[in-house]
Amino acid sequence: MRLLIASNNEGKCREIMAALGGVGLELLTPRDLGGLPSPCEDWASYEENGLEKARHFHALTGLAALADDSGLEVAHLDGRPGVRSARFAGPTSSYAEKNEALLTLLKDVPEGERRRARFVCVVVCVDPGGSSYVFRDECAGIIARSARGSYGFGYDPVFVPDGFERTFGELGEEVKSRISHRAKALRKARDFLLAHGLENDSLDGEVGAGCKIMCADVSAPSAQVVAAAARLILAGKLIGYPTDTLYGLGANALDAASTDRLADVKRRPAGKPISVIVDSVERARSLTRELNGASERLMEAFWPGPLTLLVEASGSLPSALTGDTGKIGVRVPDCRLARAICEAADVPLTATSANVAGQPPATTAGEIVAALGSFLSLVLDCGKLAAETGSTVVDVTSGAVEVTRQGVIAEERIRTVLGEKALGG
Ligand code: IMP
Repeated sequence: MRLLIASNNEGKCREIMAALGGVGLELLTPRDLGGLPSPCEDWASYEENGLEKARHFHALTGLAALADDSGLEVAHLDGRPGVRSARFAGPTSSYAEKNEALLTLLKDVPEGERRRARFVCVVVCVDPGGSSYVFRDECAGIIARSARGSYGFGYDPVFVPDGFERTFGELGEEVKSRISHRAKALRKARDFLLAHGLENDSLDGEVGAGCKIMCADVSAPSAQVVAAAARLILAGKLIGYPTDTLYGLGANALDAASTDRLADVKRRPAGKPISVIVDSVERARSLTRELNGASERLMEAFWPGPLTLLVEASGSLPSALTGDTGKIGVRVPDCRLARAICEAADVPLTATSANVAGQPPATTAGEIVAALGSFLSLVLDCGKLAAETGSTVVDVTSGAVEVTRQGVIAEERIRTVLGEKALGG
């Protein structure tokens, strides 16, 4: 089986080839194929850039492809140049000019925290079927006072890794191949390749230290995608999946260990409830002690669809779901894929948006992996979702209508349904 190193950067290709020797794959570079155009790398995260590169070279050749995206994050510069490292000091500047520009910015910065920096590397493998596997690692150190040494490439001459006094430019390949960000991320990829190969897409467990991305169709989901997602949910893992509004973070909503972990990963403030998605009205009923007439009418009018109903929670639900309010938010989404996963797992799924608390919700699989990939086993990629807001959340348990979060369905429509039906009934 052939694996294309998805990069036109020779320094990187060399390090990647060396790290992946012995994985039982024939390693090629674009040069071996007579040269291939590079893709645009203007995304906001290493994960998105890595995915773009690996998918681009896979699409051009049909081969399995492995890309790396990396950068240097400097404390004094609030994490810059980061994902823009290759374009720092101008897209055509040489490595020497970039290093000079960086050293100038840090000229008056004394030894200590502000000179601290880290290299970050994200490795993305795409298999011949188009599924991707994402691995991330880092290497911490400090920025030197001057550029030293000629080994490696890029910022190597100005970066002193922790535990050493010399720069990567002086230390050379032997040290770098043990401790660098790229070496460590590639080791995770290598372990995965040795354990699973890249022959087929039937991997249904966890991707070792990485996150798997499967392409999926929201309205006609494949049995394989649904089964993989359901299996991981039941194994207590977290997944990213699409709904009829935004991407959600899915966990087994009946398992307290899963919901606690989800709240943790999202850095969700304690006491803030997490709503759920179900595949049927029957399953919604199983989560609640009682449904009043108003709830029944709203379910009938808006499900499947983007209306989350707050209902009296049955006693046995994990407290992370109710936030100890005694109520749980539930809905049947207008998304066949989400419903199918729920049906296959035979449990309700958590439906909180796929982001860290306080950050904007993710609208693409790449954004989810960038924000939370290290905690997720699987992300289902259905492209950019059209919705910009979440479901409308409404509480009618008291008999009166209380919209607790504005969303896709306007409050007026809810009042109209209740008013009309109430008058009619
Ligand atoms: P990209 O991954 O192609 O976006 O490029 C990342 C840029 O970050 C490189 O061009 C280098 O400037 C820098 N960089 C990434 N990894 C290393 C490394 O191992 N040593 C030195 N510089 C690096």
